[in-house]
Amino acid sequence: MSYIEISTERLLLKPLTTEYLQSVNEYALNEDNTKYMMYLPNRNSDETLDFLKRVESEWEKDEPSYYEFAVICDGAHIGGVCVYFTDGIGELGWILHRDHWGKGYAYEAAKALTEYFSKRGHLHYIAHCDAANIGSYRVMEKLGMTKTGEYGGRKNRSADHESVEYQYELHMVD
Ligand SMILES: CC(C)(COP(=O)(O)OP(=O)(O)OC[C@H]1O[C@@H](n2cnc3c(N)ncnc32)[C@H](O)[C@@H]1OP(=O)(O)O)[C@@H](O)C(=O)NCCC(=O)NCCS
Repeated sequence: MSYIEISTERLLLKPLTTEYLQSVNEYALNEDNTKYMMYLPNRNSDETLDFLKRVESEWEKDEPSYYEFAVICDGAHIGGVCVYFTDGIGELGWILHRDHWGKGYAYEAAKALTEYFSKRGHLHYIAHCDAANIGSYRVMEKLGMTKTGEYGGRKNRSADHESVEYQYELHMVD
């Protein structure tokens, strides 16, 4: 069983679990909120619940391979930030309820996440986003990440056409 809480100036990151079903649905079922995402929007609450059950069971492991956090602001659940480790590289992801965009919360949460895991020896991070998702790649740039790839053929779940994807990477120093 793993349990990690990370505090920042304005936010608290806590393990994402099924208890957040309703508040995750508020952004994960919304097309505007998930326009640039490959695996969202969810079609219904059952899809969200399946996802949350998987996430919760990963937290139950002694050594999870990925960590999905709820982003809490003033006691309210406003989004999620995550890191998935493969071959030592951490893939970062983020989503906020749209009522909370543009306040620097995604950057603040992701910065705290990379700082936390860098102290555990994880120094290499990667992230992907749709080339039209300016907010997302600006978060990457603010984190100090640099663009290392640009590929066609991205298919966001709600899109009827393929788009271009950016890849960014971060190498932290010990
Ligand atoms: C992407 C997302 C997490 C960014 O969260 P956020 O908290 O609004 O981001 P920040 O406030 O930290 O903003 C980061 C930077 O991007 C800029 N930015 C954000 N949205 C922007 C937009 N639509 N156009 C231009 N710049 C934008 C901000 O001004 C800020 O730059 P600055 O600090 O130099 O002013 C949020 O928009 C979101 O949840 N989107 C939907 C889910 C999603 O697409 N996730 C990413 C999948 S790859």
